[in-house]
Amino acid sequence: MQKWRKGPRGTMGAASAIAVTNPIDWILARRSIRKFHDNPITDDQLDTLLKAAMAAPSANNRRPWHFIAVRDRATLNRIAEIHPYAKMCYEATAAIMVCGDPEIAGRYWSQDCSAATENILLAGTAMGLGTCWLAMDSEHPLTRELKDLLNVPDHIEILSGVAIGYPAEQRKPRSQYESGKVHFERW
Ligand SMILES: Cc1cc2nc3c(=O)[nH]c(=O)nc-3n(C[C@H](O)[C@H](O)[C@H](O)COP(=O)(O)O)c2cc1C
Repeated sequence: MQKWRKGPRGTMGAASAIAVTNPIDWILARRSIRKFHDNPITDDQLDTLLKAAMAAPSANNRRPWHFIAVRDRATLNRIAEIHPYAKMCYEATAAIMVCGDPEIAGRYWSQDCSAATENILLAGTAMGLGTCWLAMDSEHPLTRELKDLLNVPDHIEILSGVAIGYPAEQRKPRSQYESGKVHFERW
């Protein structure tokens, strides 16, 4: 399906694949990566991820998103401390928090921000980076703590986070295709 190249310190992994001939292969190669090397990602890489995020579709092209790019070690550690399922941020060298402004996009803001989040994951895979989606729940008190940590205005929601770094684990590309979940013409 794809050729492999060595990542930092000789790691090989789905997220460090290059020379893919079929773009669909990037989608199959994207896996949640939770172990990272400490090589920092560059400004250019971060910029590319943010451009990919903002290339996402949005309802009426309202683009209700804002992104908080975090590379400060202490802040990444604090995210890991606060969020029970974001412990990989102790190792990740960056995170992007995807925020949305419901005042701009009404009920579609979360769909718009989800599309942006997935673009970050896919772009990261294509760039040889590992990524992992971090759940956010606006009703949860821990989300308030994260908003305070990151100085997020009250009227803005955090839809998701993405932990980012050079992958230190291999996860195989795979399709989860289930024919029983496909309904042609009608359910
Ligand atoms: C909305 C959403 C929230 C998620 N939240 C977390 C999370 O907080 N922590 C985590 O380690 N993985 C999280 N994940 C990743 C899922 O666990 C992962 O996508 C799933 O197990 C399938 O594995 P794969 O991403 O390697 O295909 C989340 C994924 C989605 C779509």
